Amino acid sequence: MKRLFVIGSMNMDFVTHLPHALRPGETLLARDLELVPGGKGANQAYAMGKLGGSAVMLGAVGADLHGQHLVENLRSVGVDTGPVRRTEDSPTGMAVISVLPDGDNSILVLPGANAQVTPDYVQAHHHLLEECDILVLQLEIPLETVMYAAREAYRLGKQVILDPAPAVEGLPEELFQWLYLVKPNETELSVLMGHPFDPAALRQDALALQARGVKNVLVTLGGAGSYLLQEDGTERRLPADSTVQVVDTTAAGDSFVAALAVALSQGKPLDQAAEFAARVSDIVVTRPGAQTSIPSREEVGL
Ligand code: RIB
Repeated sequence: MKRLFVIGSMNMDFVTHLPHALRPGETLLARDLELVPGGKGANQAYAMGKLGGSAVMLGAVGADLHGQHLVENLRSVGVDTGPVRRTEDSPTGMAVISVLPDGDNSILVLPGANAQVTPDYVQAHHHLLEECDILVLQLEIPLETVMYAAREAYRLGKQVILDPAPAVEGLPEELFQWLYLVKPNETELSVLMGHPFDPAALRQDALALQARGVKNVLVTLGGAGSYLLQEDGTERRLPADSTVQVVDTTAAGDSFVAALAVALSQGKPLDQAAEFAARVSDIVVTRPGAQTSIPSREEVGL
């Protein structure tokens, strides 16, 4: 089995359920407030561990109880958290998440210790870049760290997967040439492309990303499934399961990427890995919370 390396964010999620999206000037009474382990990077590493992958996580937390809980949760599914930085300078990252009755959410992130995931810190753990086979990155840590890690991993011949979330405008062009795969959702694709999302232009957009240097493009489309354009030009549309009862979409994208990476690490071809990823995220959306919603390999039925 290949070795997976996640460099990314770790947050404690403060989750509320609201009857409707907040309007400017409105005060709403929330039903509850739950604390759930989250953060896009940590969600991916947790999902990798729970799905039977061999994963190591590099991130940063504060010297507080939230940080301790996040690290322990990753360890509970076998993730190597040795390289997680504990800093006295900032608190653990936090995310305030509002979930609406249709399962959609809005997320406000306070980065805290995630800002300490610096290029220097990754450089100090360079051996992990050398030892891994697949590197997974997102955009909730400093961009210069993402650039450094992607460039180094590419130089070392590793497969680099970028989840371009949260969407960031004006990513440096050279980043794309280091990517084995990019996995935007509709919103992130429109930011990457600089124009509104158009389902009829999916192939064109994916080809444009390939022209920028990415080998493979996988776009998740929520209830419409996903679209894959591979390096050899092969296209694939993966339908969503229309019977799924959506409760909370938090971490659906994170677990999709993680499941894809796990399947690749176990030798599956990319299109089959995408099918596995879709099955995993179809389960995630039926459950509340981030890491609390991620199924085990057995639950997915492999
Ligand atoms: O993708 C979901 C995640 O985004 C949440 O867990 C939250 O912490 C933010 O990072």
